[in-house]
Amino acid sequence: MATGQPARVLSISAGRETTHEVERRRLERIGDPCVMVIFGAAGDLTKRKLLPALGNLANDRLLPKRFAVVGVARGRMSHSEFRDRMRDSLQEFAAPPLDPEVADWLLARLYLTPGNFEDPGLYRRLQATLAQIDQDYGTDGNYLYYLATPPSYFAEIALQLGAAGLLTEEDARWRRVVVEKPFGHDLESARALSRQLTSVADERQIFRIDHYLGKETVQNIMAFRFGNGIFEPIWNRRYVDHVQITVAETMGIEGRGGYYEEAGALRDMVQNHMFQLLALTAMEPPISFEANAVRDERVKVLHAIAPLSPEDVLTETVRGQYGAGTVEGTEVGAYRSEPRVAPDSHTETYAALRLFVGNWRWADVPFYLRTGKRLPRRLSEIAIQFKRAPFTLFRETPMEQLQPNLLLLRIQPDEGISLRFEAKVPGPSVRLGTVRMDFNYTDYFGVTPSTGYETLLYDAILGDSTLFHRADMVEAGWKVVVPVLDVWRALPPRQFPNYASNTWGPKEADDLIERDGRRWRNPK
Ligand code: BG6
Repeated sequence: MATGQPARVLSISAGRETTHEVERRRLERIGDPCVMVIFGAAGDLTKRKLLPALGNLANDRLLPKRFAVVGVARGRMSHSEFRDRMRDSLQEFAAPPLDPEVADWLLARLYLTPGNFEDPGLYRRLQATLAQIDQDYGTDGNYLYYLATPPSYFAEIALQLGAAGLLTEEDARWRRVVVEKPFGHDLESARALSRQLTSVADERQIFRIDHYLGKETVQNIMAFRFGNGIFEPIWNRRYVDHVQITVAETMGIEGRGGYYEEAGALRDMVQNHMFQLLALTAMEPPISFEANAVRDERVKVLHAIAPLSPEDVLTETVRGQYGAGTVEGTEVGAYRSEPRVAPDSHTETYAALRLFVGNWRWADVPFYLRTGKRLPRRLSEIAIQFKRAPFTLFRETPMEQLQPNLLLLRIQPDEGISLRFEAKVPGPSVRLGTVRMDFNYTDYFGVTPSTGYETLLYDAILGDSTLFHRADMVEAGWKVVVPVLDVWRALPPRQFPNYASNTWGPKEADDLIERDGRRWRNPK
């Protein structure tokens, strides 16, 4: 439900607890009996993420007992072929150890309805299948539709579901649609998609998923900021020098040339995942943890981002595309040599931006964002760089040697939080050295946090939309990136590829931050 949601806050008292115990206490609620219908069931997302996440939820006893899954896929596949395929997916991608009984329980309730998404006949067959499942499993007519298809089908499927009456909520039963990204490819198409979706479903029935919001460490940004009293007073322009948000990947585009050519780094990562990291870092405390209260504050940050004029785009943004290089001893090709990529492609695989959040808390504090493929490390982090101490007492230690405090929110891998500060190096003379206070999820809680889909599927079944995008958020994101895309399109890049694989991106990105007297953190 979009309103009246109870708090989904993780509260941990002192002492060590296993993730399992913590999760248990947080996740006491189990959703209503329901059927999850996955459109695009033969695709990669279903295999790598959705089914394994359902397996993990089942393993933790977090799925309703009366539950079933219907896959919808083009082409011909039988129930048993589908189950075999999903058995492999559970073995390969679910978190071990997956209880074999649990896997069997889940696999036994998987069904497949083959068909073309444009064919109204498919929806009639689906309706009949769902009615039968309701009878067999007691799923009460509650359906969660997950659109794991190419985006060009989102509206079509929703409209067809609407026309078949499969989105109608009557009595106590609910119908929800989970939409994968990208939500449009610019402002207009995002608005058009929202209009189409809301012509057949209420906004509160629509769950726009961003798997970054399901990551434990991303949710922890809110817990860290608002569950502690000591950070908020310094979380502003008086104390913060700048913020760096990095989402670096070592992999290339993994055979997704067709999609990526249309998307590029700005649409693929910045407009959604990175803007959510920015929003959680910069938002004001919400008045409650009710879904819309939290989302209201997140969207305000996006509205507050100072719009970039065409001139600003030239100075405040940098794009890059990877060339060939050596990654972990292996030669990898350039982006332009990837399958289904044009040999003269202008698509960016790297983007860096300097943005300002125009409000009282953040005026004049630069937020440097960067993301790229084929960088030297897989690393997502938010670095809050504080201002230097105003005066140095330690005359022997040149001021430039004193490192300003740095708070590092490590999203992945090596999930945790660390604080860098100066300490006295032992010895008779006064010398300062930089040290780190470290919190590491795995050390403390014993288990590596989940990938994100578990939490989001669990929430969607419960109807909690706190961690999903709202239409206005999507539009606010597009408003920031569309002017950049317009200038980039009008002025094709002249020097692509402009960074070699396994390097930290184009030189212009270093210039972007170094002209302010700052540097990217490029950890080894
Ligand atoms: C997806 C992007 O949304 O996120 C991919 O489409 C990207 O290009 C992926 O690789 C990164 O997700 P994660 O969870 O591996 O950081």
